[in-house]
Amino acid sequence: MKSIVILISGRGSNMEAIVRDQPAGARISAVISNRADAKGLEFATAHGIATEVVDHKAFPSREAFDSALAAAIDAHEPDLVVLAGFMRVLTDGFVRHYEGRLLNIHPSLLPSFPGLHTHQRALEAGVRIHGATVHFVTPALDCGPVVIQAAVPVLSGDDEDSLSARVLKLEHRIYPQAVRWFVEDRLTITPEGRVIVRDEPLAEAGWIVPALDCTPGVGACGSPQH
Ligand code: GAR
Repeated sequence: MKSIVILISGRGSNMEAIVRDQPAGARISAVISNRADAKGLEFATAHGIATEVVDHKAFPSREAFDSALAAAIDAHEPDLVVLAGFMRVLTDGFVRHYEGRLLNIHPSLLPSFPGLHTHQRALEAGVRIHGATVHFVTPALDCGPVVIQAAVPVLSGDDEDSLSARVLKLEHRIYPQAVRWFVEDRLTITPEGRVIVRDEPLAEAGWIVPALDCTPGVGACGSPQH
């Protein structure tokens, strides 16, 4: 049984998607937040998952916070650590400690739009396609080997809310998928820093695209096309 620790800072909808869709062979050992008021903690508790808060404000430096956070995580002997809307920049030492077993989801098609306010920036840039990326974490911010991406169209009339909702729906598909691949030992990072998904010929490139009609309940919206 693989042990997974999930880190959140807020709503926790990606954590929720992973808990609801957790692969056989894995258990969510703990959900840890840097904020006591993170909404997602309620869901985790209601599902019998251990929760913990490591408040970044209680530490004098990033290093001190990261080492307390790592101690809380390591108490659960995790095979995988999942950043699910965890809004703290992590130190290189922390990232190296979890090298090859630290996943993040970012709401853009990386390497486009690392950082914050991705949906607004995508709208301002006038891109026609936007999306989300699950990647292994490396020391550079929102960078690292890409496991899976989901693309959505940017529609005329979109605002930040409509675009982020369309992306989030697919985040909830690709993150559980990436976690499942990891738990099944199907992910390999090549020396060049690319991810190979073993025995998944149809998802070789690790991408999904929804149908253009995004009316809820209509067509194949949100369904993988591969
Ligand atoms: C998600 O959209 C996730 O991609 C984003 O924060 C949101 C968290 O929502 N993460 C980042 O921006 C990380 N750079 P959630 O708490 O409902 O999962």
